[in-house]
Amino acid sequence: MIQPELWSIPLSTLTPDGLADKSAVLKQRLIDISNRFSDVRFATSLAAEDMVITDAIAKSKTKIKLFTLATGRLHQETVDMVKTTENHYGVSIAKIYPQDSDVQTFVDQYGMNGFYDGEEPKKACCGARKIKPLNAALLGADAWLTGQRREQSTTRTELNFEELDDARGIAKFNPLFDWTEADIWTYIKQENVPIHPLHLKGYPSIGCEPCTRQVKKGEDVRAGRWWWLQSDSKECGLHVNQ
Ligand code: ADX
Ligand code: SF4
Repeated sequence: MIQPELWSIPLSTLTPDGLADKSAVLKQRLIDISNRFSDVRFATSLAAEDMVITDAIAKSKTKIKLFTLATGRLHQETVDMVKTTENHYGVSIAKIYPQDSDVQTFVDQYGMNGFYDGEEPKKACCGARKIKPLNAALLGADAWLTGQRREQSTTRTELNFEELDDARGIAKFNPLFDWTEADIWTYIKQENVPIHPLHLKGYPSIGCEPCTRQVKKGEDVRAGRWWWLQSDSKECGLHVNQ
């Protein structure tokens, strides 16, 4: 059987000058955030956008702290990327784990992989493994950053650079909100940013292992995330203001 062609890393479209301009704006955004707030934290999933921000944080020499939500269901490659990134940039990435009791409650009610059964169990699993840990990760912070981009999904087209995180009463920034997928990959290539190995195997977007799959050429870049659900519920709740 012929295998369908998979998504692959897009070709660079920015000129070196164009990239330099974008990079300078990104760096300035990080410096401005860092000057306005006293405890800024960046949530990294170790996927492409987050590696661009990590690179820019390192180059901006700001005191933005990094953390990752170690859900317990990540690919081994994602777990390994934490060390790779720490070694490459000389930074430390805090690993925030879910509470055993929350995971146990989910497993008792729905089963380990119960999220495949529908929206509600998926929400419960993300709640235990991502949202509660995110709340813990942001305790004491007055601002946080994400790698979201407008172009990524129909749910992100209105995304702004700065938002109010209503749920936590702190500022939230999306410093790459206006970057395209090609911008991201141009930056990565030109700055020699380390990348998650699954990007070389047809994965444009990477979350937990059981909820992420490869994407075919021409498909939506988030088509491999929670593929069994309707597209308007393909968010884990990390970025829902509630
Ligand atoms: S999401 O639906 O999982 O939130 P996506 O993978 O597109 O979507 O990630 C968007 C942003 O959420 C990332 O750029 C990052 O800032 C944050 N994020 C997602 N997963 C994690 C994680 N495991 N740890 C820390 N931050 C994460
Ligand atoms: Fe659970 Fe999947 Fe959400 Fe990860 S992405 S927390 S495994 S439902």
